[in-house]
Amino acid sequence: MLDGFHILTLTHRDAPLETLAHAVVPGENTEVVLQQLKNALGWEELFYLATCNRVTYVFYSQQPVSEHLPMEVLQQVRPELTEETVRETASRMRLMHGNEAVTHLLEVAASMDSLVVGEREIIRQLRQAFDQSRHWHLTGDHLRLLMGFTIETAKEIYTHTGIGRKALSVVALAFGEMQKTQLRPDARLLLVGAGETNALYAKFLVKAGYKNVTVFNRTFEKAQSIASANNWRALSLDELAFYSEGFDALVVCTGATSAIITPDVYRKLLAGETGKKVVVDLSVPHNVSRETTLEFPLTYIEIEGLKETANQNLAYREQEREKAASLIQERIYDFRDRWHERQIERALAHIPEEVKAVKDRAVNEVYGKEFAQLDPEARDLVLRMLGYMEKKCVAIPIKAAKDIALRGKKQTKRIPLSA
Ligand SMILES: NC(=O)c1ccc[n+]([C@@H]2O[C@H](COP(=O)([O-])OP(=O)(O)OC[C@H]3O[C@@H](n4cnc5c(N)ncnc54)[C@H](OP(=O)(O)O)[C@@H]3O)[C@@H](O)[C@H]2O)c1
Repeated sequence: MLDGFHILTLTHRDAPLETLAHAVVPGENTEVVLQQLKNALGWEELFYLATCNRVTYVFYSQQPVSEHLPMEVLQQVRPELTEETVRETASRMRLMHGNEAVTHLLEVAASMDSLVVGEREIIRQLRQAFDQSRHWHLTGDHLRLLMGFTIETAKEIYTHTGIGRKALSVVALAFGEMQKTQLRPDARLLLVGAGETNALYAKFLVKAGYKNVTVFNRTFEKAQSIASANNWRALSLDELAFYSEGFDALVVCTGATSAIITPDVYRKLLAGETGKKVVVDLSVPHNVSRETTLEFPLTYIEIEGLKETANQNLAYREQEREKAASLIQERIYDFRDRWHERQIERALAHIPEEVKAVKDRAVNEVYGKEFAQLDPEARDLVLRMLGYMEKKCVAIPIKAAKDIALRGKKQTKRIPLSA
């Protein structure tokens, strides 16, 4: 029943990145090339997705699909490639139909097929790519329905399984470790560095409600940009060595290749305090010298130590992939039903207009003379009766078709789907 849906794809699982690039539609005139592809192959609808680890052509066509499609598509979108390159690339592409194609798209959206399992970013990429294809008038009702269902199912999977839970990014992991130390919301935090990594760390701090933060950076303006957005204080990196207000946690992450936090600097930063502090160092190489970590009582959080947690979290996500797969197997029945109902709706869409035309003909042509001779009250009554009949005549076949669909749904619910 879903046999009009097809996917042709090349992903990080099938080929190295340089081969993947051969399946990408060149950026300059993507719209024209995709229009030509759709027309040349007689597809009704097309949705094109290209991310850093997959190139996917999702299309709807009731025509038989040739097994040579990968070659045909590549020749169409990349005519400049040599025959050998086309052959090599085509041999790695996967072609899926019907149920298998729909399942694959759901798996992609749920990030079960991603380089890093559970990365929700793929949902945004899918949405963006679909909107672009729709904007180019490549898509229609079938793919619109499939896409809506795909996003809905992916969200359900992220909610009901742990596939996207448990952090994997260095920043999220480090922040999680820092939080385990039970810092109070009014803790004094020093953020050293205002590059991309610390900017991201700052977002976690804001979300957790830390208000007493001082940002140091070599280029003062960048420190200021992070600080002012959050009502924090900004200082130049030169002032770090003279800072004497004490602190509870120090987050260091710069591109400096030698230690910024030496025992001398650290001692000054302590400003006479002797309690155990939290030090996060995400720099490579480390910005907190080894002597500092050995000389002072501190909870030291750094990249190497986070690797084990990252591996455990990744293993957890892999486990959750199984749950996601069974959810998809259940949900695919719903898509089949939804698609079927939509086909009925579309097939019956002309009924209201036709019934109205019959009514108008009766009043104006078939019984035109007799109707014109009626007094205004009688004419009003006839029109109201015909209006009532019109509504009922529209509703009867729609209800009958829905009843048949519902009966079919109940009977086939447990029959395994075929493509
Ligand atoms: N292993 C991992 O997974 C991972 C992940 C993220 C980050 N990191 C490490 O984190 C560090 C920063 O990364 P990023 O992405 O935030 O880089 P970034 O966006 O390029 O920012 C670099 C930051 O370091 C500062 N900086 C560069 N050289 C410096 C120096 N000699 N002295 C003082 N400050 C200096 C820059 O100051 P200005 O603004 O003045 O230029 C800026 O604040 C790097 O060591 C990187 O390897 C590692």
